[in-house]
Amino acid sequence: MHILMVGTGYVGLVTAACLAEMGHHVICLDIDQQKIANLQQGILPIYEPGLAELVEHNTKAKRLSFTTDYREGVQQCTVCFIAVPTPSSEDGSCDLSYIYAAASEIPRHMNGYKIIVNKSTVPVGTAAQVKKRISEVLRDTHNDSTFDVVSNPEFLKEGSSINDCMKPDRIILGVDQPRAEKIMREIYSAFTINHDRIFVMDLVSAEMTKYAANAMLALRISFMNELSHLCEKTGADIKQVRIGIGSDQRIGYQFLYAGAGYGGSCFPKDVRALSFIAKMHDIDMPILESIEEVNERQKKILGEKILSYFSFQGGVKKKTIAIWGLAFKPDTDDIREAPAIDLIQELLEHGAIIRAYDPIAMPNAKKIFGSRIQFCEDEYEAAHGADAIILVTEWKQFRFVDFSKIAPLLKHKVLFDGRNQYHLSEMQALGMHYFGMGVPSSPHALSTVAFSLEKKLLTESALLGINA
Ligand SMILES: NC(=O)c1ccc[n+]([C@@H]2O[C@H](COP(=O)([O-])OP(=O)(O)OC[C@H]3O[C@@H](n4cnc5c(N)ncnc54)[C@H](O)[C@@H]3O)[C@@H](O)[C@H]2O)c1
Repeated sequence: MHILMVGTGYVGLVTAACLAEMGHHVICLDIDQQKIANLQQGILPIYEPGLAELVEHNTKAKRLSFTTDYREGVQQCTVCFIAVPTPSSEDGSCDLSYIYAAASEIPRHMNGYKIIVNKSTVPVGTAAQVKKRISEVLRDTHNDSTFDVVSNPEFLKEGSSINDCMKPDRIILGVDQPRAEKIMREIYSAFTINHDRIFVMDLVSAEMTKYAANAMLALRISFMNELSHLCEKTGADIKQVRIGIGSDQRIGYQFLYAGAGYGGSCFPKDVRALSFIAKMHDIDMPILESIEEVNERQKKILGEKILSYFSFQGGVKKKTIAIWGLAFKPDTDDIREAPAIDLIQELLEHGAIIRAYDPIAMPNAKKIFGSRIQFCEDEYEAAHGADAIILVTEWKQFRFVDFSKIAPLLKHKVLFDGRNQYHLSEMQALGMHYFGMGVPSSPHALSTVAFSLEKKLLTESALLGINA
């Protein structure tokens, strides 16, 4: 099958490479000329495990190519995927301008029947809008080409996207024409050889499924984060609670980790967009509203713990803080809405000196922070002379850090573990203060209870005019 992939980012490039690996001929199109020029020379715009090999292999086999030319791409394909960004607008709604730009450009070059497949995450009703725009352009340009629109939301996870794409849990196809369904089944047949994972439904249900899936996953994270606060107050351990509840098959273990909050290019914007859709339909969805609210609060917790800890030592001003991990999750260079970014901004505002290390995401973080923070060679260099370490992203290489080597490097032995990767007893044995998220933490340092008490006292003192 000849396929055009419009948008060559995380989703577009990975999907294109996987489709090419299955034998399809795929042209990747992007409006970013530099990105395409680099790809033509084998330079990838993103980090994704296994992607470089797949792109190289399929480019050499002439099944994968790159262009900025819509005419070339559209005319050579039967199926045209759209995988362009759908970011949040200021009001939380989904910005569809990239989708509409692609949907207006494609029909200008159509030379016969095409299937336009929406792979981007889009609000319910977008397929109908795309159909309308394409029809209008065809009418205005006196082009009698025919087309169908399909909704095929993507569920890959950055960091494991090749595997997710090659062995998908499900392939959702929103279709309203048997001809389009037949061709889409053909495209995906190689991915479903073991058992049929294709679920065909109407267009709006397919669009809704993607938002519902992301909202459900974000909900699980926010629920565990909320519960972790109660664990801290009551002395329960959220890690044990996770095992206890996850063993129930109806619940399962996945996405039940308390931590520094979720980030990335999907959960935050998709939860916001779904809330916006609800508002547009006058539907009150308090659970949905809370997911985002809890996450925004959670992203601040690490900062609050650190500020609170140092409040008895003159604050974080001029304190050196080592940040381990910048990406929003391991195995990606993506820092969009990453908790580490907000945390660093906050610590910088309070005058802290930041020494950061991330195995992959530092070039992207440099675009934000430039020389305002120090970027280090590894986690050991970041810890050198630091007053505190904060683990924000749970990269595998941080799991077995030799803390007997790290501890002597520190000026002040304290670790804030934003992902519950370490254990209090191990840290105590090295004379370190340890703070996790909803897990037993150092007895000598401020607990959340003490922190809230302190805050309460400060507020009361301020109200009474006492200089605390
Ligand atoms: N990143 C993920 O993990 C993930 C997972 C599932 C779904 N999605 C969804 O997939 C969509 C794409 O996300 P992404 O992370 O791949 O985005 P991205 O920003 O990594 O890539 C999008 C690409 O589209 C290009 N582009 C923009 N307008 C264009 C146009 N008119 N014509 C051609 N190219 C254009 C951009 O230059 C960019 O290279 C979004 O809707 C997102 O919500 C993302």
